[in-house]
Amino acid sequence: MALRRPMVAGNWKMNGSAALAQELFKKFASKLQNDSAEVVLCPPSIYLESVRQLLEANKEALDGSLVRMGAQNLSQHDFGAYTGEVSGQMLKDSGCRYVIIGHSERRRMYGETSNIVAEKFAAAQKHGLTPILCVGESGPAREARRTFEVIAEELDIVIQKNGTMAFDNAIIAYEPLWAVGTGKSATPEQAQEVHAFIRKRLSEVSPFIGENIRILYGGSVTPSNAADLFAQPDVDGGLIGGASLNSSEFLSLCTIA
Ligand code: PGA
Repeated sequence: MALRRPMVAGNWKMNGSAALAQELFKKFASKLQNDSAEVVLCPPSIYLESVRQLLEANKEALDGSLVRMGAQNLSQHDFGAYTGEVSGQMLKDSGCRYVIIGHSERRRMYGETSNIVAEKFAAAQKHGLTPILCVGESGPAREARRTFEVIAEELDIVIQKNGTMAFDNAIIAYEPLWAVGTGKSATPEQAQEVHAFIRKRLSEVSPFIGENIRILYGGSVTPSNAADLFAQPDVDGGLIGGASLNSSEFLSLCTIA
């Protein structure tokens, strides 16, 4: 039986502030338990240093509970003339452990193809970061019953470029596009169905990885729908957008997981 520690990751997107980070840590220090879910904060890059300092300053107060830091994006390149980009090594130096890869907003708005996503996945691992790989179908794809096809395609390109064993050090986030930022979450059954599909697909190549990889659900998760979503056997926590910007809601999600 795999022991997958639940994870709650907050994707601030282009929101938040150093003050929000401070507020979160104040709550964490008094409320997070040792056996709580692993908590990951993914602020905009400019606030990584503030979060790193807070992690350092609150080490004792956190008393063994797992709070870690992730970035929202990285360059697929190591260094060079890529204005505005941040490399995996830089994120690692800044204290990140995780990095979100292939979020639908980046795929849609910044032209990140599945090939680029696969390269970013490799770049993250090369620099010692654990990728949180986002996959998910659009509303029309779901209506056309193409959900599994889309998810399989997005996964397979990363597998082809990196090998299945690369998923030994990765997290997957199932984020249906129609649920991200819309207030319309997937039902627990819809989430479970896709999570089971992803796990099975990885199990076919490596039963160990299939059993052990953590698969998060993302898309309009709130304290009122989280318990049912997180209770699904193949849902190992959540990737949280909107609700990660409210310290009380985010803390309550961390304790539900
Ligand atoms: P949401 O975003 O929780 O605001 O729907 C989730 C995400 O984009 O990761």
